[in-house]
Amino acid sequence: MRKLVYFVATTLDGFIAGPDGSDPTGPGGFWSPAECYIRHLVEEYPETLPGPARTALGVTAEGTRFDTVVEGRKSYETGLAAGVANAFPHLRHLVFSRTLTESPDPGVELVAGDPVAAVRELKRTGGKDIWLVGGAELAGALYGEIDRLVVKLSPLTLGAGIPLFGRAADFDPRLWELSDHTVLQGGAAFLTYDRCRA
Ligand SMILES: NC(=O)c1ccc[n+]([C@@H]2O[C@H](COP(=O)([O-])OP(=O)(O)OC[C@H]3O[C@@H](n4cnc5c(N)ncnc54)[C@H](OP(=O)(O)O)[C@@H]3O)[C@@H](O)[C@H]2O)c1
Repeated sequence: MRKLVYFVATTLDGFIAGPDGSDPTGPGGFWSPAECYIRHLVEEYPETLPGPARTALGVTAEGTRFDTVVEGRKSYETGLAAGVANAFPHLRHLVFSRTLTESPDPGVELVAGDPVAAVRELKRTGGKDIWLVGGAELAGALYGEIDRLVVKLSPLTLGAGIPLFGRAADFDPRLWELSDHTVLQGGAAFLTYDRCRA
């Protein structure tokens, strides 16, 4: 069965963004990826690059891992604020929201219902894996459905920010098995963990 994969950039202290929820990798942000990090994404995960980045870098590869991306409304609006109504036109793109009523782009499907039920339905259909972009609140709601974690770990600490599964996630310890890792020059690491199912 296809997996739900939380493929996410985190700091050493487990944050995916600063406390204000703005885009840390955008202009004026504090989190700028190194060249080798971008190169690794291009080579291994080209489908996770937003459309404008794919165009700028001349990337046309379909990628082998994901054909569907799911994200929370706040993460989606980070792109929207930058003028990008569909950052992933090359993927099936679902945005979870109980407040948005009209999709800003015909390629973006709004889902108002329960994310767990929606993801279970996606898993039942065939295809490549499903990329959970985040943010943290959606990842917290989908915690029990995540089969694989790909942590793009940056050699950066924030002290405070939005944690990997949000501030409202339940205490629910789970074990994960390291299945792949790549350490990049400069200290960033891509760590792949599969959920242990005892
Ligand atoms: N480091 C990374 O790789 C990475 C990746 C993605 C995002 N981010 C960062 O994460 C931040 C945003 O994350 P966030 O945790 O604040 O928000 P988020 O998870 O992106 O979005 C939260 C919204 O998603 C919808 N949602 C969440 N749970 C839901 C549920 N159970 N049912 C239906 N809808 C649900 C709700 O939208 P409504 O209020 O409309 O109902 C909720 O307000 C931004 O700063 C972004 O830059 C970082």
